[in-house]
Parts: sequence; structure tokens; C-alpha cells
Amino acid sequence: MRTVLVTGADRGLGYGLTANLLENGWRVFAGRYMAEWRELDDLASRFPDALSIVAIDDASADSLRAAREAVERESDRLDMLINNAGVTSPTNPRTIREDPDYDEMHRLYDVNALGPLRAVGEFLPLLDHGSMKRLCFVSSEAGSIGASQRTSWFGYCMSKAALNMGIRNLFNDLRPQGYTFRVYHPGWVRSYMGGAKNDSADLEPHEAAAYAIPFFTAPRDDEDRLVLTDYRGHEWPW
Ligand SMILES: NC(=O)c1ccc[n+]([C@@H]2O[C@H](COP(=O)([O-])OP(=O)(O)OC[C@H]3O[C@@H](n4cnc5c(N)ncnc54)[C@H](OP(=O)(O)O)[C@@H]3O)[C@@H](O)[C@H]2O)c1
Repeated sequence: MRTVLVTGADRGLGYGLTANLLENGWRVFAGRYMAEWRELDDLASRFPDALSIVAIDDASADSLRAAREAVERESDRLDMLINNAGVTSPTNPRTIREDPDYDEMHRLYDVNALGPLRAVGEFLPLLDHGSMKRLCFVSSEAGSIGASQRTSWFGYCMSKAALNMGIRNLFNDLRPQGYTFRVYHPGWVRSYMGGAKNDSADLEPHEAAAYAIPFFTAPRDDEDRLVLTDYRGHEWPW
């Protein structure tokens, strides 16, 4: 049975990915950030042998270490890591003339850019023993410098651009060691990034997950070229 860990799995896309992977026979470690949000418990009762819920705060090295130890108690390997957790901020729309919120930008950078790096570092020994060595990153079109037209959203856009650079450096290091990479823009998802579910977005989380999972799991013709790809299969400029 192939084994995967998904961060930010409580709700939104991460929950959709977790449900889809379980339905497709994967053994899933689901990162729980929101102790009060219980949707994952319903999945655990449907898939008691295949789902383990693990507390993960991507902003905390201690939390990730404890999560790795929890996974190790149940498995000697991970085949795939999906770095899905991400945050935005209500103060993102402030332009440079509107008192940008630098504290929030630090928070977004810590979770969106540094969080996936922390997770890769912590879980790498387990991934080294896996059969796929697949590192997946939910980034965003918002991190594309080449396609940028926004006039604000500094914290979110800059944190995703920094994530993309971090992934590139990981790719340079780990691709020669047999790792394969997926960098993904999931589309506009009806998720909870704004605090409440965004019903005006394009895709339900389970629809977004149905696009993402084949991209994450299938082999690519050219694993030596790092690409940022959206849910329609279109490549985005870095
Ligand atoms: N929604 C979109 O249209 C869209 C577009 C492009 C890219 N994305 C990316 O897709 C990914 C999934 O987002 P989503 O849209 O599904 O949003 P979501 O519904 O907010 O899901 C993200 C999950 O991650 C959790 N989380 C927050 N901080 C965390 C931390 N420090 N450690 C671990 N988990 C944490 C969130 O908890 P809280 O709810 O408490 O914050 C939430 O449960 C993100 O990386 C996002 O940037 C989304």
C-alpha cells in the first residue's frame, strides 16, 4: 500500500486530497492543524486502517518533529509528501499607500515559504525509504513573477514566489538523488482561506482534488524539468 502525508488536511483542498487518496487505496497520514475542526474524524471512521491523523503546525519545527515521530511509530517509510498547508490574510489587499501589514507578511512567509521546507527536511529520512520519492507542493499562480498583475497581496504573492525558489533549490539538490517534484496551482477553490468557505470560487475541494491527484501521482515524461502547472495542465512562468 502506498503511503502519503498531506499537510493542512483539516478542510479545503487538503481534506479533498486526503479523501481522494483514501478512496484510491492509499495509506494516508493527514496533518491536523485545527484541533476543533472534526471533518477528518468522519474520514477516520470510514477508513480506520488507512488514515492516521497527526497534529502538524508547519510553522513549528517542534510540531513537525513530533509528527515525524508519530508517523515513524506506524510506518518505516513515506512514498509521497504533499505540502498543501497555506495561509492568506485579510490585510493582503492593502497597497503600498495603505499601511501594509508587515507582521502578517512575516506569518505568511513562515507558513507558506518556510513551512514546506521544514516539512521536507523533517520527513526526508522516511521519504528516503519510500518507493516514489515524490515531493508535491501546492503553490499558486500568485507566486508567478512572470504572470503577476496584482498591485497588492504582498504577503501571499511573495511567500509563494519564495516557496517556488525554495522548491527549485530542493530540486537541484534532491532530483539527482532520485526525487521527483510536482509544483501545482490548484485553481480557484471553494475553500476556507478567507476564514469562511468561499462559495464564489470555481471548484469544490473534492473537484480540485480530483484534478490534483492524477498530476501528483502519475509519472511525467520529463522529470528533469521543474514546472509550475495548473489544474488544467497549463504551465505557468516562474
Ligand atoms: N483556495 C484557492 O483558490 C487557492 C488557490 C491557489 C493556491 N491555493 C493553495 O492551496 C493550499 C490549500 O489551501 P485551501 O484553499 O484549501 O485553504 P484552506 O481551506 O484554508 O486549507 C488550508 C488548511 O491549512 C491549515 N493551516 C493553516 N496554517 C497552518 C499551519 N501553520 N500548519 C499546518 N496547516 C495550517 C488551515 O487552517 P486554518 O483554516 O486555521 O488557517 C487549513 O485547514 C494552500 O497552500 C493555498 O495557498 C489555494
